[in-house]
Amino acid sequence: MSDEEFSGIPIAELTRAQAEAELRRLAALIRHHDELYYRQDAPEISDAEYDALRRRNDEIEARFPKLIRPDSPSKRVGAPAADGFGKIRHTVPMLSLGNAFESADVTDFVERVHRFLKLPDDVPLAFMAEPKIDGLSISLRYVGGKLTEAATRGDGMEGENVTRNVMTIAEIPHQLHGRNVPELIDIRGEIYMPRQAFARLNEQQQAAGGKIFANPRNAAAGSLRQLDVSITASRPLHFFAYAWGEASQLPADTQSGVDAAFAKWGLPVNPRARVCNGAPELIAYYEGLAEERAALPYDIDGVVYKVNSLALQERLGFVSRSPRWAIAHKFPAQQAMTVLKGIDIQVGRTGALTPVARLEPVTVGGVVVTNATLHNEDYIKGIGGQGEILRDGRDLRIGDTVIVQRAGDVIPQIIDVVIDKRPKTAKPYVFPDVCPACGSHAVRESNEKTGKVDVVRRCTGGLICPAQRVERLKHFVSRNAFDIEGLGEKNIQAFYDDGLIQSPEDIFTLAVRDARSTKKLEDREGWGPQSATKLFNAIAARRTIALDRFIYALGIRHVGETTAKLLARFYGSIENFRTAMIEAGKSKDAEAFKELDNIEGIGEVVAEAIADFFAEPHNVRVVDDLLKEVSPQPLEAVDTTSAVAGKTVVFTGTLTLMTRGEAKARAERLGAKVAGSVSKKTDYVVAGADAGSKLAKARELGVTVLGEEEWLQLTGAADRS
Ligand code: IVH
Repeated sequence: MSDEEFSGIPIAELTRAQAEAELRRLAALIRHHDELYYRQDAPEISDAEYDALRRRNDEIEARFPKLIRPDSPSKRVGAPAADGFGKIRHTVPMLSLGNAFESADVTDFVERVHRFLKLPDDVPLAFMAEPKIDGLSISLRYVGGKLTEAATRGDGMEGENVTRNVMTIAEIPHQLHGRNVPELIDIRGEIYMPRQAFARLNEQQQAAGGKIFANPRNAAAGSLRQLDVSITASRPLHFFAYAWGEASQLPADTQSGVDAAFAKWGLPVNPRARVCNGAPELIAYYEGLAEERAALPYDIDGVVYKVNSLALQERLGFVSRSPRWAIAHKFPAQQAMTVLKGIDIQVGRTGALTPVARLEPVTVGGVVVTNATLHNEDYIKGIGGQGEILRDGRDLRIGDTVIVQRAGDVIPQIIDVVIDKRPKTAKPYVFPDVCPACGSHAVRESNEKTGKVDVVRRCTGGLICPAQRVERLKHFVSRNAFDIEGLGEKNIQAFYDDGLIQSPEDIFTLAVRDARSTKKLEDREGWGPQSATKLFNAIAARRTIALDRFIYALGIRHVGETTAKLLARFYGSIENFRTAMIEAGKSKDAEAFKELDNIEGIGEVVAEAIADFFAEPHNVRVVDDLLKEVSPQPLEAVDTTSAVAGKTVVFTGTLTLMTRGEAKARAERLGAKVAGSVSKKTDYVVAGADAGSKLAKARELGVTVLGEEEWLQLTGAADRS
């Protein structure tokens, strides 16, 4: 566990402010690691390190129970609670709006209002016109200016209690400020997700094999209604206030006046709302907004017109479940029917195979659409968690007539198949199991943690696949892999683009090739004789490299630094490792595979990923080519006979005879496991100066505590030094 993630201050000594700051940091950090683990299947820290973070959080909360955050990690252990949300009854129902689709419907609406109020037709009435945000409506109860409850619309009478979720939305104030804040007011408005943020979220979801949302509205609703509020907190949700429910008092006598007060109190209100007089102005507003629509950062599905005077609203009242004083003027649907002509498979930089629909060109909402995303294999089959988009159970076949939908500037998608129009000859689509970019096998793996089969099919060609190569090279030279000074992502990309480095071994032949070449590195822009020599030296220095770094650099799926270390330690040398892995790659029944699978800390999914990698001859070729250039050094042998072999040790406090890094490395060399926190399983706590909570914990649990000297003696280092 790196200490920078903790303040390092013993719990007993934390001030309230420090505790609060640290809980905030821990909540964010744990949320980040949860996201990596649960949603992206790509944990960055070991389970033990993760546990230590949670423990620290729990310990701080135990001392400062008042500081427990609404999104505290301690409130969600493992899976979310099975029961859903509580219910909240709306004291004033949340109603819907009548719709207008054409200008004539708007003039009718205005005339109806005039008639009802017995106003002459030639006196224009003032309306508030505002964008109809395509999100989900919410009611926020403020008592004494303080946000106390938040409820979804539900059936209009009773919604779900999403208070804890809403509390994580930065734009929603927990406290209203300024003059005339009523003792009680239910603020109503819309929670939405901006389009760009939605597109990014879907990309992340796609990469992680998670749920893909059809549009920003679904994404906003799905993100808000999470039992695990840390998920809501991680999603980019925003809010506009535009109405109210129960209110002990109102700050103005017009809709526009109330909106202005909302803004003063700290609530976001839509800056495009305008007061318009009479139907022609309303229609002009609608047309103006329709033109602006595509450029807006969020989705709108129309315009809402509201009689501006609250006294008149009161007189107009309601008809069934909608107000007589307001109407929604909808934009035309962004959908169209066309034919699916083909399916192309694109290979992403991480090897994910993504199908793309080629469509008979069709105009959707004023834009010609020729492609649509198909997300993944299951989507085409009409199965899996994609039901929110494509109607569940319907597969897509080439030749099908389909409905495409454009949601803002998001890539169009197919939302339905017209089964009646399916050609008799149309056959179920067979998703390729080889990569179209390099011909390697493309596989759907099982998730390391859940054991579920991933929705994403991936190319196994890693280092040879043109679609992935450059990413793999960047990984190869990254800090925890070959870490070549002067050869970062930017230079790798430039060298790759110029054909200088295509494969890892090219890095090591760069100097020789450069010497022979007429286009010298030193002549490139930004380079000179000195920097070129420096780079060649840095590369040469890495011709010997620790075995674990070498293994990690190969970029085998699921093989992070920890696994690479386990492998290096277990197999000892590159020769042993290479031979064993090639054997393991031949069959899951091979002894070598069983041995690999049996290594403590290596699960089946990881073992399979390693075996699959070595089962591909081109990967073995890359390794062999590389081994002509570099010599991986075995890890220092682990001494299994030492007094601390197999024991769990925790170092705490300031060490003076050795650095933390040295202490850790030495302990591991002697076969000990170094842990970040003290538990019943700890054998020794080595306490340096100013040791705090860990020392206290050790005493409490009766764990043997050693001074630095004692530790060195136990491990036989004292007499050697
Ligand atoms: S006013 C009494 N204003 O549209 C009606 N609604 O179809 C109060 N909506 O459930 C609603 N933007 O979710 C109003 N500027 C806006 C709106 C808006 C979006 C939604 C809202 C409502 C639905 C009615």
